[in-house]
Amino acid sequence: MNARSHNTVNAIRWIIVVLPIVTLATLLTSCVSGESEEDILAFLESHWSRPVAPQGEAPASFEAIESRLDAGSCGTCHSDQMRDWSGSQHSMAMSPGLLGQLLDMGADDRESRQACLRCHAPLAEQANELADFVSATLSAQGETTPDSGPQLFRQGMLCAACHVRDYQFYGPPRREDLPPLPSGKRVAHDGWISSGAFQDSRFCASCHQFQPDEGKLNGKLMENTYGEWKASRYAADGKSCQSCHMPDRRHLWRGIHDSATVREGVTIIAGEVFVLSDTLFGSLTLTNSGAGHNLPTYITPRIILEGVQLDSAGNEIEISRRWNWISWEASVNLDEEYQDTRLAPDESLSMDYSEPLDAQAASLRLQVRIEPDAFYTAFYRALLDGGFTDRGSDFIRRALEESISSHFTIFDTLVPIGSL
Ligand code: HEC
Ligand code: HEC
Ligand code: HEC
Ligand code: HEC
Ligand code: HEC
Repeated sequence: MNARSHNTVNAIRWIIVVLPIVTLATLLTSCVSGESEEDILAFLESHWSRPVAPQGEAPASFEAIESRLDAGSCGTCHSDQMRDWSGSQHSMAMSPGLLGQLLDMGADDRESRQACLRCHAPLAEQANELADFVSATLSAQGETTPDSGPQLFRQGMLCAACHVRDYQFYGPPRREDLPPLPSGKRVAHDGWISSGAFQDSRFCASCHQFQPDEGKLNGKLMENTYGEWKASRYAADGKSCQSCHMPDRRHLWRGIHDSATVREGVTIIAGEVFVLSDTLFGSLTLTNSGAGHNLPTYITPRIILEGVQLDSAGNEIEISRRWNWISWEASVNLDEEYQDTRLAPDESLSMDYSEPLDAQAASLRLQVRIEPDAFYTAFYRALLDGGFTDRGSDFIRRALEESISSHFTIFDTLVPIGSL
């Protein structure tokens, strides 16, 4: 073998062995540095065009575990993301409240189901499993279906919904502080294509923002989280959805269902409590000091500021109860707005307490309570009481219970009246 052919062999080896690594490395880095605004928009448009196409056959180079789409399989290698995601609302997006409504749509109405699945469980593989589940459940005629069988659709917003299309993996730019990927070795799932789109608030807007022609209540879009954020100082300061909801890239997505997150997002001030001419005065002021959009952003939660007098045994004196709600209240069929007291970033709302001092009163209790699913409680009750749910009623009953048990209190103080 002469020197020249040796070089050729080396060159070929270089192409076969090194090029894929270089290509991969280039994909990992260059996509990002060279990514323009148009590239990001084009990526988002194709990534989030729905229905998501079926993944098809996994490439022959994939190990069996790399070709599975369930979150547990990703979790065998990505345990941190798996742990965080499992505690998030995204993992619970195929909830009893949704399943009950999907069952009520009947077995054949794939299109109506898809209108919900595009945000709650967007993979084609999930839609197919769900179709089988709905048929099987409805033909079982009222027998409760055990939570066994296929699991993909039950995982709601699973990893692959955000990260996998046609068995090509996608993710954010690799962390710069990591040691380089081992050279010459294949990376699991043949690596991934990285895009800055994963760090852009518009990535989240694909499900957390309605288009201008979608559902409105009193002229306001029912889902306008991205729009609210865009108009806030957070957008101006470059603080994305991810920076609050995925700190250090963690897959937490904590929001109104998490008491620590809500507490950190608000400032509560209790005003002076005093008695004047037999009237008891006090106040509670809550400011949206840390949510990057309206507090709350949706019609579903209710934040209650409340004052009530207690007798010496600690019983609440019902007639003395006064409250104010921070929420967007509407009729259950969503055609009439009752009130909209949501707080844009940095806005405040007060509950001014001024009630006759009760003869039995020993103290004034001031509380801030959160009902994350308040709208759904009323909605599920209306479905059950009005007989609007039939096939899905077992699930709707469970959803009703869950919507009540999610309540919590973030502020609770007792001011003794004797000392005033
Ligand atoms: C056999 C182990 C294995 C399995 C299974 C696996 N991965 Fe990976 N994945 C890896 C390794 C290794 C890397 C490269 C990590 C690094 O950068 O050091 C990676 C990288 C990634 C990245 C890119 C991270 C970044 O920095 O942007 C994403 C996103 C990802 N995987 C998602 C998934 C998802 C989603 C699944 C399931 C559908 C999955 N992976 C299954 C091992 C695995
Ligand atoms: C494909 C759709 C989809 C995408 C993309 C998406 N989400 Fe979600 N998200 C949902 C759905 C559906 C829920 C409600 C799940 C449930 O409770 O059933 C949800 C719930 C949440 C919650 C929990 C709210 C609560 O009630 O406490 C937060 C926070 C959140 N998402 C933030 C984000 C952020 C940040 C991003 C972008 C990185 C994002 N989401 C991307 C569909 C999506
Ligand atoms: C544009 C994205 C989107 C679409 C489409 C969508 N949802 Fe949701 N859904 C969300 C988000 C975001 C939340 C979390 C905020 C909330 O509680 O309102 C949610 C919450 C819910 C909840 C309460 C939380 C839970 O999972 O129990 C139910 C029930 C629900 N959706 C049912 C449906 C049904 C039924 C459809 C179809 C008719 C549908 N959704 C379509 C985004 C969407
Ligand atoms: C709602 C969409 C969504 C879901 C669901 C999701 N991810 Fe991610 N993932 C993201 C986004 C967005 C980022 C980048 C966040 C950032 O850079 O701030 C990311 C980053 C990652 C990374 C890189 C982490 C790092 O520290 O560099 C890995 C690995 C990953 N995801 C794996 C997973 C796995 C495994 C699951 C399921 C257990 C999952 N993801 C579920 C949106 C999602
Ligand atoms: C400055 C931090 C911050 C930013 C930026 C931010 N959020 Fe939030 N988010 C919060 C806090 C705090 C809460 C809890 C209080 C509440 O529900 O408003 C929350 C709650 C939520 C909820 C719960 C539902 C509800 O009715 O409130 C969703 C969904 C959500 N955020 C999505 C997003 C999306 C999507 C973006 C980007 C467009 C975003 N957030 C930007 C801090 C932030």
